[in-house]
Parts: sequence; structure tokens; C-alpha cells
Amino acid sequence: MSAQRAAGRAVDAAAAAGRRALARCEEWNREHPWDHNAHHHAWIERHLPRRVGTALDVGCGTGDLVRRLAARTEHVTGLDADPGCIDTARRLLAGHRGVDLRCGDVMTADLPGGYDVVTALAVLHHLPLEPALERLTALLAPGGTLLVLGLYRPRTATDHLLDAVAVPANLVAGGVATWRRGSAPRPVAMTAPTAPATATLREVRDAARRTTPGAAVRRHLFWRFSLLHTARRAPG
Ligand SMILES: C[S@@+](CC[C@H](N)C(=O)[O-])C[C@H]1O[C@@H](n2cnc3c(N)ncnc32)[C@H](O)[C@@H]1O
Repeated sequence: MSAQRAAGRAVDAAAAAGRRALARCEEWNREHPWDHNAHHHAWIERHLPRRVGTALDVGCGTGDLVRRLAARTEHVTGLDADPGCIDTARRLLAGHRGVDLRCGDVMTADLPGGYDVVTALAVLHHLPLEPALERLTALLAPGGTLLVLGLYRPRTATDHLLDAVAVPANLVAGGVATWRRGSAPRPVAMTAPTAPATATLREVRDAARRTTPGAAVRRHLFWRFSLLHTARRAPG
């Protein structure tokens, strides 16, 4: 067998093992759920500009991130296509000042735009990739910041090699979260609609190159990526 064919088989075997591990991991997650998205709030908070007037959280679910953004911004809008999520978010955030929760599809909703910050946490894979990146960027004020944390579909040998770290870390995090929760119900944020990741990391990077040139796209553990983009300032 040529070295090239042997290498090809090794990659296929690693990919098949990765897929099996992922399937087991998803099963474990269903029984021992933990909130991967809340785990990534810290990344978003770390990258917020020092002063934020207005922010938009796209696909806000039940409003966890909106609550955190409200502490750092003058006004934050949470938008979600799911009426049940928005009802829950309104109930949970009642009394918070400078918070507006709206039900609608980000691709068509009548939004004023000009936001200092637009965030999208675990939402991009629900949307058509390139049109969504264009839309999110168009909603920014000049000099505004786009913060996306998204899911990618593992495909390459490197993706599957990372499973060797992500899978056990995920099992431990799920086990610890379940133990800590005891008999308490799973976090309400985890009731928001989910979807499987569709784009690979390469496809995300290619789309970002075309739609948000200069954006920093980084790989994170747990099959996530981040995209950080700053809109151009108006000339003069
Ligand atoms: C996996 S959940 C993430 C929710 C929240 N960002 C979090 O981190 O907990 C994805 C959310 O995106 C919302 N969504 C999907 N398509 C949307 C669209 N076209 N416009 C606005 N929200 C959308 C879903 O209703 C869902 O609440």
C-alpha cells in the first residue's frame, strides 16, 4: 500500500472514531446537560469595548447574555425568532432598565441599525452563513464591534484530533454540572431551539474573508469558533 493511501486510511479511521465519539458525547450531553453557551459569555464580555451605548443580541434565547450586556451598555435589544423564548426572556428580565426584547427574524426584522455592538451566540448556524454575516455587519455603527461565537462542523483530521481533548472535557463538565444541579431542572437557557452545525471551520473562514474582511476567526474548544470584527469608521 502506498504511503499516501495509508495516510488517507488513517485520516478516515480518525474521522470515523471522531464521529463515534461525538455521537456518544451527544448522548451523554442529553443525560448530563451543561450550558456550553453560558461558558462562552466570558469571551464576549472580554471583547466588549470599554464604553457601549447600544447593543443588539441576535438569537438571544431566554436572555442570559442580554442580562449581562445590560450591565455594560446603556441600551440592549435582544431579538429572537422564537416567541416562547422572548416570553421567557421578558419574564426573567422584567424590571431591567435599558432592555428591549423583540420577537423576529434577524434577516428581515425592522431594526434601526447603528449598534455599537452586535452579538450572536450559538446562532449563526441557524442562518444562511454569508447573508447573515453581511446582515450582522450592516447593523453595526461605524467603528462598531461584531462578536460571534458559533458552532462548526468537525471535518478535518485536526478537528478530530481536538476531539481527544474536547470529548473528555465535555464529559467531565456535563458530569460536574449535573452533580451540582442535583434535582434542580436544567438551566432555562437550554430550552431555546437548537440546530446542528452545518458549516466547517474552513467554510466559516472563507465566508468571513468575503463578508467581514480583516475579522479574526479563532477556533475554541467544544466545536466552537469566535469571530471578532470591527466595522470601518466613517472617513474624516
Ligand atoms: C442555540 S440557541 C442560542 C440562544 C442564546 N444565544 C444562548 O446562548 O443561550 C439559538 C437561538 O437562535 C434563535 N434563532 C434562530 N433563527 C433565528 C433568526 N432567524 N432570527 C433570530 N433568532 C433566531 C433561536 O430561536 C434560538 O433561540
